[in-house]
Amino acid sequence: MNSPTAILGALNLDPDLETPLYRQLYDSVRSAILSGRLLAGLRMPPSRTLAKELAIGRNTVVAAYEQLIAEGYLESRVGSGTHVAAIPPDTLIEAGRAERQEIKPDPRRRLSQRGEAMLTVKRASPSYVKGHVLPFQHGMPSLEFFPHQVWARLLARRARQPQSRLFDYQLGTGFPALREAIAEYLGAARGVVCGPDNVIVTAGAQASLDLATRLVVDPGDVVWHEEPGYLGARGAFLASSARIVPVPVDEEGMNPDAAPPGEDPPRLIYCTPSHQYPLSVTMSLKRRLALLQKANEVGAWVLEDDYDSEFRYAGRPLSSLQGLDRTGGVIYMGTMAKTLFPAIRIGYLVVPDNMVEACLRAIRVTGQNPPAIVQAAVADFMHEGHFSAHIRRMRALYAERRDLLIDALESKLGGRIRPARPDGGMQLPAFLPEGVSDDDATAAADRHKVLTTAVSHFYLTQRKRHALYLGFAGVPEKLIEPGVERLSAALHEVGV
Ligand SMILES: Cc1ncc(COP(=O)(O)O)c(C=O)c1O
Repeated sequence: MNSPTAILGALNLDPDLETPLYRQLYDSVRSAILSGRLLAGLRMPPSRTLAKELAIGRNTVVAAYEQLIAEGYLESRVGSGTHVAAIPPDTLIEAGRAERQEIKPDPRRRLSQRGEAMLTVKRASPSYVKGHVLPFQHGMPSLEFFPHQVWARLLARRARQPQSRLFDYQLGTGFPALREAIAEYLGAARGVVCGPDNVIVTAGAQASLDLATRLVVDPGDVVWHEEPGYLGARGAFLASSARIVPVPVDEEGMNPDAAPPGEDPPRLIYCTPSHQYPLSVTMSLKRRLALLQKANEVGAWVLEDDYDSEFRYAGRPLSSLQGLDRTGGVIYMGTMAKTLFPAIRIGYLVVPDNMVEACLRAIRVTGQNPPAIVQAAVADFMHEGHFSAHIRRMRALYAERRDLLIDALESKLGGRIRPARPDGGMQLPAFLPEGVSDDDATAAADRHKVLTTAVSHFYLTQRKRHALYLGFAGVPEKLIEPGVERLSAALHEVGV
């Protein structure tokens, strides 16, 4: 009864199932091998014989056999037909599984200090990790108005091109047309002074933070970080074993004169001048000049994170720090995560001439290139005018959503929390009354299906302000008022 013809001839393949017949046959043979009903070395019936036996087409049997041969379940021997393989692949997988379960971790095989340091990096909010898309997740652009058709067309066009650069290892610091498009855009929109050679395309702002920090910070070096400040940046500094020194932010932005005394001078100063993360203030011109002067005095690099400056709703944008600097001391960074969509994983650094080669080498070492075809499609998206058109549309939409959110917070929460009215960006902090913990408020909001982030998490010192960080850019209008109503109910629970 162990003959393959007997076993397989008894199969009932069902043409009415959605699973194609060849796949049903493949599954049956595979499970007969794995269960031991078809033993190693057995000769399989010729495809013609089996097809007749099962009353199916011969091509169906050939397709199933080919798949089983490709995956190592069957072997084809010249002159003697097709046989069950001596060691079917799943046997190896099963054996591997059994061994893996028995392994006890060896304490000598531990994480590096860098690995341990990365484990200590806080997550912004538990719900964010759960992947809910709820009001008022921050950091999210609107995805529903992204021009998917245009994007699909551009991607497909590039994927069809035989241009070797899109398929080989040459990319280095980025696809040339994209570096050109970014340089042109940053010059016109952000007053950044650079040519395409200064633009380094990275796998997103987080990769830029990692790259820039690795290149200029040694373990123990002081890095000035905004207080409160962006956790992603803090993670990169921790991973480089930097000494993070929190420098307070006031209504004019990061204040170099308020840096804690007694510390070594900084090697790197990280800041978000266009729209401070998370307090949403714009750094004044006076403060920009003071910061650059301080950096020059001590020979520090400035890392300017311009993550969402495209979305400005009032007043004229101030020039980037990079555009004000005359000493080659500013490393500028931006991202497509907000202007296009987060999963695109494209960001850029603008570095002085003497840093370009180091960036190229570092990218090779760390493997942080985004895919060439995606870079090329983004270049086309920019050159053909879709990028600026999309930003223009999103700027108007986000301004409207910002106003809707602030109006709803003011009318439904009437002074119970104090929302900031930022000139730009995609989110705002809403400050809680004295004595109310934003952690408690965030947990209550989570129970009411409102996603907020506790601003106190962004502080390193104990002098924390408690506020809810509320995203508006990615929240459809119709969800804003109901979201604020649920937030109001949640805040009642914590006595607000
Ligand atoms: C301050 C800041 N920088 C950078 C980024 C963007 O990071 P990425 O391009 O890695 O998504 C964000 C996104 O939330 C941010 O808030």
